[in-house]
Amino acid sequence: MSTAISPTAYNYKVVRQFAIMTVVWGILGMGLGVFIASQLVWPELNFGLPWTTFGRLRPLHTNLVIFAFGGCALFATSYYVVQRTCQTRLISDSLAAFHFWGWQAVIVGAIVTLPLGYTTTKEYAELEWPLAILLAIVWVTYGLVFFGTIVKRKTKHIYVGNWFYGAFIVVTAMLHIVNHASLPVSFFKSYSAYAGATDAMIQWWYGHNAVGFFLTTGFLGMMYYFVPKQAERPIYSYRLSIVHFWALITLYIWAGPHHLHYTALPDWAQSLGMAMSIILLAPSWGGMINGMMTLSGAWHKLRTDPILRFLVVSLAFYGMSTFEGPMMAIKTVNSLSHYTDWTIGHVHAGALGWVAMISIGAIYHMIPKLFGRTQMHSIGLINTHFWLATIGTVLYIASMWVNGITQGLMWRAINDDGTLTYSFVEALQASHPGYIVRALGGAFFASGMLFMAYNVFRTVRASNPAEAEAAAQIAVVGAH
Ligand code: HEM
Ligand code: HEM
Repeated sequence: MSTAISPTAYNYKVVRQFAIMTVVWGILGMGLGVFIASQLVWPELNFGLPWTTFGRLRPLHTNLVIFAFGGCALFATSYYVVQRTCQTRLISDSLAAFHFWGWQAVIVGAIVTLPLGYTTTKEYAELEWPLAILLAIVWVTYGLVFFGTIVKRKTKHIYVGNWFYGAFIVVTAMLHIVNHASLPVSFFKSYSAYAGATDAMIQWWYGHNAVGFFLTTGFLGMMYYFVPKQAERPIYSYRLSIVHFWALITLYIWAGPHHLHYTALPDWAQSLGMAMSIILLAPSWGGMINGMMTLSGAWHKLRTDPILRFLVVSLAFYGMSTFEGPMMAIKTVNSLSHYTDWTIGHVHAGALGWVAMISIGAIYHMIPKLFGRTQMHSIGLINTHFWLATIGTVLYIASMWVNGITQGLMWRAINDDGTLTYSFVEALQASHPGYIVRALGGAFFASGMLFMAYNVFRTVRASNPAEAEAAAQIAVVGAH
């Protein structure tokens, strides 16, 4: 039997490539997270070398987990979802291949340049101009493939998941291009086109919407496809999903100034950011409830299906972090939480609990289908992974809450004569136990990824290329 791909089959090759790289970059990025968390416990791990210091490895961690791990998960799932819900193959295999290899090149560029100290110094936008330009070209290619496929769809309707992916693609391009406007002075050094408070505002307009559109909207696209699929139930309210979409994208874009409370930014802009952040709770929870309620009548499946558990627990963490975020955006709360580990805890409630868990659930859902198997090699190992991830996330965020509130209260404690009650070092010493627990929680989470890699490896090894291609064929004629 021939294994040649028929022109009517989906392009699963690029989906498989991105799915496998999600696991690979997940292990590297989270492994590095555990390493930098350990550096905060044992500073000797900086090794006295510039390339291995916390300050250089921290941005490498954020780039690897957000853009390499999170990015590959979003690309794999969006290409899978857009083909199946539009009942058509991607518009161009070669552009999709360019997207895959171009993205890997950007990541390898980050791995080389960040430890060497080349950075724009803008958080989450550290890559210097040659890499930033490559990233922009690759991103536009992605947009062409995604929207081109939507245009050539065989279905009348555009499924809501694609709206979320589409907004994520358009807004990320806009943010990246505007925030990266800069003047290069050498091959690896450029200066921002903006200055002072304007530069800060543009940066956090970018930074917050990187959270809003990269770490949230794209993953909501994932949620709207994989939760109903895995639960085998239609989405709870399709109408709510449309309201959710428009409310979310309208509100998110205004909230950036909550990163700049009590700074030189005009006060009205800070208050506007705070107000919009509080309103943002409504669409965030609307989406969370829509996902959760999709399980109505299927709750019993949680007892036996660890993939569904990953997806549902990710929604719970999404709900939690989008409740915490608006609270932290209130200026008086922010005066306590800002600069402390509370922010780091909030970040990882979203990053581990929401972003990583929903991605892991979606990858476990897709892998057998992409490789022509009925299910993953071991359901038991998925269950082990689930518990390692959940316990790891709880240890991480609980220790950072304790640390953050301790730090905030110690820094502001004042004696009767107006002097500070505690020195900075005393607050640091009080944080030490929390850093140990965080490193432990991170190690739990990262070791779960190793179980995933083994499980994926065994599933892929047992696959048969002919069956995998047949799956791509059947999927075209079958229901999406
Ligand atoms: C309604 C939703 C949310 C609101 C209003 C919100 C609000 C906030 C606030 C007020 C801060 C602290 C800013 C500071 O003091 O410096 C913050 C930090 C942060 N949040 Fe959220 N958050 C939300 C959801 C999320 C989610 C779901 C994620 C992740 C997936 C996330 C990721 C982050 C990150 C990465 C930072 C740290 C930024 C930095 O300083 O580097 N947030 N957020
Ligand atoms: C094993 C899992 C992980 C561990 C142990 C870990 C550890 C760390 C550590 C130690 C920091 C620096 C904190 C500081 O400066 O005080 C950090 C920062 C950060 N990590 Fe992770 N991380 C993990 C997974 C992830 C994942 C999966 C994501 C995103 C999807 C993520 C996103 C971030 C972000 C955005 C920051 C910067 C936060 C800020 O500036 O406010 N991390 N991580």
